[in-house]
Amino acid sequence: MSVLETLRSVISLRPVELDPVKRRLARAAGIADLRRLARRRLPGGVFDYIDGAAEDELSAARNVAAFSDWEFAPRVLRDVGNLEIAGSLFAKPLAFPLVLAPTGFSRIADPAGELAVARAAERAGLPYTLSTMSTRSIEEVAAVSGGRKWFQVYAWRDRGLVKELLARADAAGYEAVMLTVDTPVLGRRERDLRRGFTLPPKIGLDTLLDGALHPAWTLDLLRSEPITFANVRGAAVGDGTSAVHLADYINSQFDPALSWRDVEWLRGEWRGPVMLKGIQGVADAREARAAGVDAIALSNHGGRQLDGSPAILSLVAPVAEALGGELPLLLDGGVRRGSDIVKALCLGASACMAGRAYLYGLGAGGERGVDRALALLREQFTRTLALLGCPSVGELGPEYLRKR
Ligand code: FNR
Repeated sequence: MSVLETLRSVISLRPVELDPVKRRLARAAGIADLRRLARRRLPGGVFDYIDGAAEDELSAARNVAAFSDWEFAPRVLRDVGNLEIAGSLFAKPLAFPLVLAPTGFSRIADPAGELAVARAAERAGLPYTLSTMSTRSIEEVAAVSGGRKWFQVYAWRDRGLVKELLARADAAGYEAVMLTVDTPVLGRRERDLRRGFTLPPKIGLDTLLDGALHPAWTLDLLRSEPITFANVRGAAVGDGTSAVHLADYINSQFDPALSWRDVEWLRGEWRGPVMLKGIQGVADAREARAAGVDAIALSNHGGRQLDGSPAILSLVAPVAEALGGELPLLLDGGVRRGSDIVKALCLGASACMAGRAYLYGLGAGGERGVDRALALLREQFTRTLALLGCPSVGELGPEYLRKR
């Protein structure tokens, strides 16, 4: 064999992907890779707003770490040739047991913001929860997505405003509402404080260098229309037309007096499913059931509120047991792999939600990055079921898992 022939036999010329975003995303093997890409593409303040959490970030780290406290007990020879990963929630289909958690201000990661995320969720067959504090409005999101849409509610002091938002969500075809109950005041996000981070992000002297080091992001921001709190555009409460520190805004606008009476009020204002997001223990889960909600979402806001609150996965089994299967049980916090979702379901959850996982995708490559994040989680979820020897999502249970 000549040298040339030998060379030819070992070198295969793969077509070169010319689109740099596609190239980067194709090489991302997991959510951690999307996080690295987002960190490179976004200015430090924006990345830290997404990635950061409250105070020492203990709960945020423990949310993630808790998944590795559990190991699988796989079975073999179980015929996993036809895996069933789809399910349903509120009698409507779920492509696999994942919901996109509400995250405010998505346009800081990419100009299409919530529109990009809602479209990607629809393509993936998953519900998208729009945040009260979104930078695209209830109606703008509904106009681009015929998929399942939920609306997350924060309790403004002005309940008239909440009522108005609910009526708009109803008119725009949103199916369910999720009241966030872990934010009577804003958690102390120290990364944001150190950077003097505002919403919308300012391009001032202090952030000029950061902006110049991330030219693609800066150009996108300058080219797109100003970022505002789109659901309250022009309202007296302030819509972010002038930049605010989030803690000042939330602590002045959101009602720390929120109580179980308000849950009752909300129940009466919404015809469809009502969920509480931010339950962190058995006693409140029982109280929520007694208050007549349709589902519970265990959450510590991704560790962004009370630092030192428990790792969310550790709450799943006791709360599932207390609820006895009467209500769907969701959770979020720390989901970074499809196998994390499998573990949560084994412990008794109905589905997981994810926040940062898709935001890293959005930061890494815009809408295509969100597609990539959701595809990765789905592939990982499916592969885990196969390797676990569990042919159907409905059969997941504690026999597939043990504490390390
Ligand atoms: C959030 N989260 C959140 N929750 C909420 O109810 N309303 C909101 O507006 C926001 N905004 C928000 C912004 C960002 C940047 C993040 C990271 C999170 C919390 C979110 O819904 C969810 O509880 C966590 O993201 C779950 O943790 P993971 O998946 O990020 O680890």
